[in-house]
Amino acid sequence: MLPWLAERFHNPSSLYAGAREARMAIDDARDTLAEALGCLSGEIVFTSSGTEAANLAVIGTALANRGGARNRILISAAEHHCVIHTRPLLESFGYRVELLAVERDASLSPGAVEEAIGDDVLLVAAMHANNETGAISDVERIQAIAREHGALYFCDAVQTFGLLPTPPVDLIAISAHKLYGPKGIGALVVRAGIKPQPTIIGGGQEREMRAGTENVAGIVGFGTAVRLAMNDEHRVARISAARDRFEAGLSSISPVFTQCTSRLPGHSHLRFSGLDAESMLINLDLLGVDAGSGAACSSGSIEPSHVLLAAGWPESEAKEALRFTFGKDTSLTEAVEAASRVAQAVRRYSSASAKA
Ligand SMILES: Cc1ncc(COP(=O)(O)O)c(C=O)c1O
Repeated sequence: MLPWLAERFHNPSSLYAGAREARMAIDDARDTLAEALGCLSGEIVFTSSGTEAANLAVIGTALANRGGARNRILISAAEHHCVIHTRPLLESFGYRVELLAVERDASLSPGAVEEAIGDDVLLVAAMHANNETGAISDVERIQAIAREHGALYFCDAVQTFGLLPTPPVDLIAISAHKLYGPKGIGALVVRAGIKPQPTIIGGGQEREMRAGTENVAGIVGFGTAVRLAMNDEHRVARISAARDRFEAGLSSISPVFTQCTSRLPGHSHLRFSGLDAESMLINLDLLGVDAGSGAACSSGSIEPSHVLLAAGWPESEAKEALRFTFGKDTSLTEAVEAASRVAQAVRRYSSASAKA
C-alpha cells in the first residue's frame, strides 16, 4: 500500500501513464477478489466499508425498484446494524419491512424465509454468519427460495469472506479488515443484470454504482490481504484449533456454550450463569484478554444485544453473553493462557459477588 499513500498520487480516472498504473493496481486487486469470490471482476464494486456495501445493496435495491409491485422486504432479525438500521428509511420509501425470526443460535432457517416469502417480495437480506454467535446459515438454500419467487437476495458475508467459500448469491457484502486488510475498504458483489441505484452520486466510477475517486491504497491492501488468505491453506484449521483448545481449557469453570448447528472456526460464544458480561469484560481487560459482548451502551446503561433478544434469549442471559474470537496468528499457548485468565476472572468476579 505504501507507494500509493506516499509517492503515487495519480488519479486512476485520468489518462496519463501514472494514472493508468493506478488503474492497473485497482484492476489487479479486483481480479484477485473476483477469483476468491468466484465472480466476474466487473461484478465487484469497491466501497468504503462493509457497512456502505450493505447500505448500497439494501437501500440501492429499494430505490431502484420503488413504486413497483414488489413492495415487501424481508430482513433477518439478527442482521448487523448496517442492515437492520436501514428499516425506517426503507419504510419511508413505501416498503413493508418484515423482520424474520431467527433460531436460538441466531442463524436464519430457510423455513422462516419460505414461510414469509411471496411474489410481492423484492429483497431478502440474511447474513452468511452472525458476528456475535458465529452461527452459519444455509444461504445457498435461502438464495434458491428467493430465486423461486423472483426476489433478490443480499448476503452479508463480512464474517465469512476469507474463511469459508462465498456462496454464489445475487448481492454480497465483504470488508477488508475482517481478513487483515486495511480498515475503510469494502466491496459489494453485484451480479450481472442487477442494478441498485447508487447512494453516492457524482462521477461514473465503479460501473456508475459508487461515485468518488477510488481509495487506491485501500483497494491494493484489500487485494493483498485476499491473496495472503487464499495462499494460507491451513488458516482455518489453525484458527479452529486455537478456539477448541481455549474451550477445552474452560471446562473447570462451567461455561454455558451457545450451541450452533454450524459455526465460524474462530468464534466462541458463551456465558457464565450469574456473571454479567460488562463486569466480566472489565475483569478480562485487566487481565489482558480482549473479548467482546454484543451489548451496546445507550444512555449510560448497557443494553443487551439485539441479536440475542431476536434469537429469543431472556434479557438476563443476553446480558451474560461473551464473545471470544481467534485469529490467524493465535497460538495454542496463547489460547491455553487466555482460558486460564478467563478462569481467573470468573473466580475473582464470583468471589467479589459472593462478598457483596
Ligand atoms: C456481519 C457484519 N456486517 C457488517 C459489518 C460492517 O463492516 P465495516 O466495519 O467494514 O463497516 C461488520 C463489522 O463488524 C460485521 O461484522
